[in-house]
Amino acid sequence: MVLSLFRRDKQYQPSEQIADYTIEKTLGEGRFGICYLVSDGQKKPYIVKQLKRGMLKKAGAKAWFEEEILKSLQHESVPQFIEKIELEYFFGYVLEFKEGRTFEDIIYLDKHVFEREEIYRVGSQLVEILKYLHSKSIVHRDIRVPNTLYDDQKVNLVDFGLARWINNEKYRADMDFAFLGDFLLHLYYSSFELKGFKKCPWYDELELYPKELLFLKRLMGVKQRYTSIFEVEHDFFETFESYK
Ligand SMILES: Nc1ncnc2c1ncn2[C@@H]1O[C@H](COP(=O)(O)OP(=O)(O)OP(=O)(O)O)[C@@H](O)[C@H]1O
Ligand SMILES: [Mg+2]
Repeated sequence: MVLSLFRRDKQYQPSEQIADYTIEKTLGEGRFGICYLVSDGQKKPYIVKQLKRGMLKKAGAKAWFEEEILKSLQHESVPQFIEKIELEYFFGYVLEFKEGRTFEDIIYLDKHVFEREEIYRVGSQLVEILKYLHSKSIVHRDIRVPNTLYDDQKVNLVDFGLARWINNEKYRADMDFAFLGDFLLHLYYSSFELKGFKKCPWYDELELYPKELLFLKRLMGVKQRYTSIFEVEHDFFETFESYK
């Protein structure tokens, strides 16, 4: 009992210290880690991501892909990697703090309704981020509403815990397209009102224009899948431009 308690990852509390950083609050706990909002001596905000030891053991070298990948990126919508922290009882890293609330909170807590024009503005930023990532041979594999932040119309993408180098075998660029499609569906559903009790698939219940429907079906793999982000980009702009 004592031993298992001892082995558990310590969850840090506000005002506690990790290396040179002071914990402000816990932002979230996932399967792999715990994310904290912290400040340095100058009160500047940063993110500290604590990697759980169980995960480090199981994942081995994979655990450090997030570090390797973030270090290779330089994009205003992706957090910069600041430094790694390796202490006797703490493994993790410090990331640049990105402003914004998660789309999860904006949709499900704030109940914000995304109209087509805003979906277009958000989607075009994600397409642009994906173009950058794929050009660097990186597939994110976790573009979802809790991993995307929205700040004053700007979209930021976080959580590179599942990101991998594209090898066209196990890790393919097109894996991100279904995530993008599913993400966009969350935005479309923000204005959806269920009429009656019948639950239909998204392509039957959402009111979509024909081109929009085909675009989303191709992203989701219901119709012929896209093979590159350039194809996605082309159809995205054509689709939304025609309904402006
Ligand atoms: N760089 C950042 N700037 C601002 N907020 C962030 C940043 N990174 C993470 N967050 C916030 O912390 C939350 C949790 O972070 P993240 O998604 O990276 O880890 P996780 O989902 O808990 O872990 P994992 O998916 O790796 O198990 C995010 O949903 C987001 O709200
Ligand atoms: Mg996450």
